[in-house]
Amino acid sequence: MPVQWEVLLRKHIHALGGAGLLLSSSMVAVLAQTAPTTPPDPPQFDAQQVPTFVGVGDILEFRTLPEYHEPDYVKAFVDAGALPPVEERLPVEPMVYKTSNMPDGIGTYGDVIRHVIGGRPEGWNYSAGQTQGWGGIDIALSECLTRTGPLFQVRAEELEPLPNLAKSWEWSEDGHELTMHLIEGAKWSDGDPFDSEDIMFYWNDVILNPQVTPLNGASPETFGTGTTLEAVDAYTIKWTFQEERPTQYLYSMAYGNFCPGPSHILKSEHPSYKDGATYDQFRNAFPPEYLNMPTMGGWAPVEYRADDIIVLRRNPYYWKVDENGNQLPYLDEMQYRLSTWADRDVQAVAGSGDLSNLEQPESFVEALRRSAEETAPARLAFGARTISYSIYPNLSANGWGEPDSRGQAVRELNRNLDFRLAVTYGLNRQALGEALVRGPFTSPYPGGLMSPTSYYDKESTVYYPHSVEDAKALLEKAGLIDTDGNGFVNFPADIEGGADVQITMLGTSDYQTDKSLAEGVVAQMEQIGLRILLQSQAGNQRDANEQAGKFDWTLRRNDSELITVVQNTQNLAPTGPQISRGHRAGTDGTQDLLPFEEEMVAAVNGFVGTADPEERIELMKTYQRVSTENVYGWGLTQYPGALIINKRFANVPAGTPILQFNWAEDGLIRERLFVPEDQQSTAELHPDTLPGAPGIGNGPVSSN
Ligand code: GLA
Repeated sequence: MPVQWEVLLRKHIHALGGAGLLLSSSMVAVLAQTAPTTPPDPPQFDAQQVPTFVGVGDILEFRTLPEYHEPDYVKAFVDAGALPPVEERLPVEPMVYKTSNMPDGIGTYGDVIRHVIGGRPEGWNYSAGQTQGWGGIDIALSECLTRTGPLFQVRAEELEPLPNLAKSWEWSEDGHELTMHLIEGAKWSDGDPFDSEDIMFYWNDVILNPQVTPLNGASPETFGTGTTLEAVDAYTIKWTFQEERPTQYLYSMAYGNFCPGPSHILKSEHPSYKDGATYDQFRNAFPPEYLNMPTMGGWAPVEYRADDIIVLRRNPYYWKVDENGNQLPYLDEMQYRLSTWADRDVQAVAGSGDLSNLEQPESFVEALRRSAEETAPARLAFGARTISYSIYPNLSANGWGEPDSRGQAVRELNRNLDFRLAVTYGLNRQALGEALVRGPFTSPYPGGLMSPTSYYDKESTVYYPHSVEDAKALLEKAGLIDTDGNGFVNFPADIEGGADVQITMLGTSDYQTDKSLAEGVVAQMEQIGLRILLQSQAGNQRDANEQAGKFDWTLRRNDSELITVVQNTQNLAPTGPQISRGHRAGTDGTQDLLPFEEEMVAAVNGFVGTADPEERIELMKTYQRVSTENVYGWGLTQYPGALIINKRFANVPAGTPILQFNWAEDGLIRERLFVPEDQQSTAELHPDTLPGAPGIGNGPVSSN
């Protein structure tokens, strides 16, 4: 490109007023291309319900009540001497949900919620990274230090995580120490005491142990570099942070990152406590057939049939109550049908399932049509545009995932801005969205923070419009030319013998949307001369390969940090060796970050390290500009999802989003859901039984 051209274009763009976005030095190369803009405004699509906004203290508190109640059939176990009285099973100060925050008030006991999922359980060892099949089953079983799902209804100015296993906390004067008070006297579903031993096992033998990674990938840096944790006594723990008052980490202590397992059971199989045990054996020591795995959640597993069903029954030791002292949950049973994600939509709409997060646009039209009928068994309400997809290139050139020479050559391309720009110009995001569903749903997504977060700033968002011509020119600039005339660009002669560039794109076959988007991307890349091979795998396998860095590109649905910013903020950039989706430490433990990634990391660390609202806004503007300008990932499409829930359920909070701080299965507060007596179904599969903990009298329900 002749130099005069660049100067002319620069002047031209300057005259057009685009200078603010374009003058950073990293962008000079692109001035010759179609000028980037801000992203197009999404079509108007209003959320159908809005939450009633409250403060954290309006939702719950911890206090002793004068008396407690339980379902009659549970009382029968007590009367038979198989279970201690309810007041002895509850903590000194149980969590009390306030009636004023319950949409339909105090509930009645009984009935079941029937879930349908497309995932499959690997086992119950969440701490060692095993999935239980998703769809909120792990959310029903595990409880975490703090909780964030219900925060969609908390006023922005009072936003902070809900207390949970940690019932309260205070910061030291200098802001480096955080003392947390655990619920006192609570018990696991088998009656074993819950205390700081469970917390310390999780910290020392899961988080700090590099051989063990919990399901959602938490690593020490999730809680800040250099952070330490110690037990002060059975119900007090103390965090020490290098940063000053990093309230951000309270969000990291919620779902996915700090949900301890039952140390009294896990220790017996963990290599640090069991002679000769391997980490693999530990991970697999609690297969799905292992029933009655102790939980702190409202329900515990009592039945499993492969490719058929998982049944959970109420946890008689659950530590949450309503204001009348009724031990929660109200629902006695929870079923998980092992089917497909698309079937979850179909069954929820038809009434044979009770709940779905309508998140695959391919089902939108049919679901809307059926739900509009007067006799429809379920309610359907759309929320904000919080579902988005991106492709993340593997940016490690120092060995993460141990690539072969072709893989290594692709990593080098991924690290080349011209190459990333070529791909982004080659994507027709409008067409990708329209191929999923027509109508005002999807909108092109440039990547970076999503529009529903208050930190989103359109002016700081760099969007490269679709241009096949620019894409091709940039591939050439990156040294990729179709030397053999087969329609696909080749590596330069000295790399990979000048072979066709072949890039594998990891994705999952669990969802039609993932498959449709992947196929669309492959076709669009073909048009610019880039050959992409789809590696479509079952979700569990995809996740394992992704965690291990065994991919060139990975196409996936995004997580909540891009929607909330305050949640899992560290995950927005490669802030730690094991944190980023696309860039983890190489074989020698170091991270070969590109300069723009360093800038992203600085913005994120700055955000975590300050409480100043103005500063935080500016830092996120920087983050957004740097990440979208340099194309940290290729955003594809964003759209709203709808919550479908059977009309017989009461206490469904208005405006529960399918995904914001967490999935709806957390946001809904399922332990408060109930079914009015006259509408209760007879769908319980194990009526009048409890998880077969020792001494309760009814042993494990057999699985075949
Ligand atoms: C899966 C589903 C989501 C949600 C989550 C909960 O990812 O696709 O809709 O149910 O599980 O973990």
